[in-house]
Amino acid sequence: MKFFIDTANLDQIKEAHDLGVLDGVTTNPSLMAKEGISGRDRVLQHYKDICSIVGEGDVSAEVIATDFEGMIKEGEELAALHPNIVVKVPMIKDGVKAIKYFSDKGIRTNCTLVFSAGQALLAAKAGASYVSPFIGRLDDISVDGLELIEQIRVIYDNYGYNTEILAASVRHPMHIIKCAEIGADVMTGPLSAIMALLKHPLTDSGLAQFLADHKKAAEASK
Ligand code: E4P
Repeated sequence: MKFFIDTANLDQIKEAHDLGVLDGVTTNPSLMAKEGISGRDRVLQHYKDICSIVGEGDVSAEVIATDFEGMIKEGEELAALHPNIVVKVPMIKDGVKAIKYFSDKGIRTNCTLVFSAGQALLAAKAGASYVSPFIGRLDDISVDGLELIEQIRVIYDNYGYNTEILAASVRHPMHIIKCAEIGADVMTGPLSAIMALLKHPLTDSGLAQFLADHKKAAEASK
């Protein structure tokens, strides 16, 4: 399963990249705003900065327009920034049309704000490279987000769709583990969820014991 980080924060992207496990980045307008990035030139430069940190990994850059022509104009501009940019398009009627247009032109897309299997099926039929079901936001309204990932996996496997399932709105390490069990192609989450995978109290106590025993033996042999 590929690991994407869901942030526009350059330090966090660097930290995940330095760990050696980062396969890509997803951003959205809220994450860009959180970093204080606004104005077309600054936004475009920020995407370029992210691409230069990630190297080979895909970077999702979201369109702001919600009409077909606007999405095409913005998406083409974003795609021209760097070969690893994936144009993120919302799951709305004009978004589906735009995904089909981009797919025919060989521009890769990430269909975002997906909350149902029907939406995921439409995104795949339109030729989306990635589909982003938001599991955390479904959990927030007492709907099992992981169940949606399972449903989409079955549907895509039934028909051999190439669209990759990008489990989004991941909130914690159990989301990541369950997505891996189900067979999501990618997960995107905050740095905290990725780092939480590292942690186990028995690792910490075991390491402390090893180091203490080593120190004792070294002192005894003096
Ligand atoms: C997906 O690409 C979105 O950026 C993201 O995962 C949304 O997550 P949130 O529900 O934590 O805002």
